[in-house]
Amino acid sequence: MSPGAPRRPCYNARVATPAQDLARWIPRLLAVWRAGRRGGRPGPKPPPDRLAPDELKDVARAVERLSKGLTRERELAGARYMDEQHLLGAYLLFYWPTSYLQARGTLSELPHRPGAVLDLGSGPAPLAFAAWDAGASSVTACDRSAPALATARALAAAAHVPLTTKEWNPTRGRPLAELGTGRGFDTVTFGHVLNELFQGEGAALRRTALLEEACGLLRPGGSVLVVEPALRETSRHLLEVRDLAVERGYAVRAPCLFRGPCPARLKESDWCHAERAIEPPPLVAELARAAGLRKEAVKMSYLALAPKGEPWRAPPPTPAGARLFRIVSEPLPSKGRLRYMGCGPEGRLGLALQEKHVDERNRAFEGLLRGDVVEVTATEPSGDGLKLGPESEVRVVAPAGAPLPEGPGA
Ligand SMILES: C[S@@+](CC[C@H](N)C(=O)[O-])C[C@H]1O[C@@H](n2cnc3c(N)ncnc32)[C@H](O)[C@@H]1O
Repeated sequence: MSPGAPRRPCYNARVATPAQDLARWIPRLLAVWRAGRRGGRPGPKPPPDRLAPDELKDVARAVERLSKGLTRERELAGARYMDEQHLLGAYLLFYWPTSYLQARGTLSELPHRPGAVLDLGSGPAPLAFAAWDAGASSVTACDRSAPALATARALAAAAHVPLTTKEWNPTRGRPLAELGTGRGFDTVTFGHVLNELFQGEGAALRRTALLEEACGLLRPGGSVLVVEPALRETSRHLLEVRDLAVERGYAVRAPCLFRGPCPARLKESDWCHAERAIEPPPLVAELARAAGLRKEAVKMSYLALAPKGEPWRAPPPTPAGARLFRIVSEPLPSKGRLRYMGCGPEGRLGLALQEKHVDERNRAFEGLLRGDVVEVTATEPSGDGLKLGPESEVRVVAPAGAPLPEGPGA
């Protein structure tokens, strides 16, 4: 068993539809970006799906600025960067496609279709458009940045999507109900915005209160979906909000199978994130190269909550003696064995299989991906986790990005 063992493609890559849908957005993103550039550009017409060399240089510089400001030093988090045309442009061409794929890869885990969608902190609305492509019946995008909303409207016009936009700023203390969007949403999304709201002391409580308000706009069976950057700090903040929401009676639709306080919060160095391998569109790959960034996977932390009082979904039935886990780490190979961290109804545990015990029944263990939900049998306690043996069976119950099969009732 080697770290280079053949890897299964993740759910989305196999279905391929989100990547194909995204490819259709690339010329629209570029056309809207070019239309918004002041002064136009002399010389031959640039390609519709790629940046010309001079454009690439300009945008890559702005991407570097955004990357430093949003993920490294974080001085832009909560700042008005979407109101600056060159940063909004860089967001549109580099981060928008990633947010789109993250949304497709998390909406696909919900047990319902997107339905009527409210996208809060939408920016130029990658989540709203992802929901539309995933079958939403209506999409409303809200943000405090008027230029970001204008860009969302331009994209909607280019794609013939009937998008509604509203200005929204929750830090002004106005309840969500005052947005005038009404209730009756099936999905309310928060894409990379929660970490930008209510900084400092009390932030987790205020963020949880906002999610509670959003849950109050849901129809029965709906979900509030939060996607956040896969950074230790923002991810741990989300886990804190998750624990507060669970304490207050909200069920987690995804990704948690464990109903107690999040075990990843016990150790400061732990956090929880998802990762899906992607083939980035050429535009994004080129920008990543030019800005010195990596983009061969999308990583995010996410949380989907049910309306208050709705029960947790029962885990799918497992054969007697089988245990269920979501894989929450990358493969951790070490001297003759492979290990992962799993998180399931009984908590977070290491799962290990020795190379000499690999057999047809447990061969799937070698190709597990972060996010897969697996059923394992014939395990024994060992150190801080469980060891599998030659008798153990390993079955992927839901690949990363797919919904869990229905359980027998909550
Ligand atoms: C990182 S962008 C995310 C955009 C998009 N949702 C996505 O996932 O790609 C964060 C967005 O949050 C918005 N935002 C930040 N603080 C806000 C506030 N106080 N009120 C409303 N929107 C806010 C910003 O304008 C920006 O559009």
